Amino acid sequence: MRKALVVGNWKMNGTQSSIDVLMHGLMAQLAGCSSGIVVCPPNVYLDQVRKLIEQTPISVGGQNLDWHDKGAFTGEVSAEMLADLGCDFVLVGHSERRTLFGETNEDVAMKCKASLSKGIIPILCVGETQAQREAGETEDVIASQLVPVFDKLGTEAMASVVIAYEPVWAIGTGITASPQQANDVHAFIRHTLAEKDLNIANNIQILYGGSVNADNAGELFGMQDIDGALVGGASLDAASFLAICQAAVLV
Ligand code: 13P
Repeated sequence: MRKALVVGNWKMNGTQSSIDVLMHGLMAQLAGCSSGIVVCPPNVYLDQVRKLIEQTPISVGGQNLDWHDKGAFTGEVSAEMLADLGCDFVLVGHSERRTLFGETNEDVAMKCKASLSKGIIPILCVGETQAQREAGETEDVIASQLVPVFDKLGTEAMASVVIAYEPVWAIGTGITASPQQANDVHAFIRHTLAEKDLNIANNIQILYGGSVNADNAGELFGMQDIDGALVGGASLDAASFLAICQAAVLV
């Protein structure tokens, strides 16, 4: 039985004081939440959040990492640094990283490997654009994003990976994939992994991301292959994020 997981990706938002308000709002109302909860603040606020969540079931994650161990990579942050700041998770290959910062599937695979080497669970993000969906290429695109990671990590390591399906056309647009559209891709991802290892495929958590909010979360979580959510905008408001966490009960 898979456990639900809800991850808040704060992207490049927040200040020390707004994060204090958000985290206290979240921590005050955790009673009705049975899912795992992860928040991914900007790196500069990781330590602030880590200190706030010490006595809570909330985990903290990074939004990106560099795959090198250390060295002359100005502005970058390594897996070891994220681990040192208490991160249990890190987002890898978010579509904004792929489109705005030119990350390739090979980069993404290297980042997943680096994070696992330091005991951090990579949340591997995949998803197609509107044009790719309209051209009937969704499954080919998703496979092209998954396979290099499977090959680089080896099948067994996939047991320690979370996958997030985020259709690019649904991110920050207010347009959510229908529960059926999302579930179809989740089932395809699970099937692709099942060809390598059925047990890992049955146990891997596959999250949906793209305009998830308090109103649509329940219906999404009701789908068989949707195990949680990767939430952008709605994770910046404690009440909205809590409502999503409370809805995260798997069938
Ligand atoms: P929104 O929930 O704002 O659409 O963002 C989704 C996302 O990109 C989470 O990583």
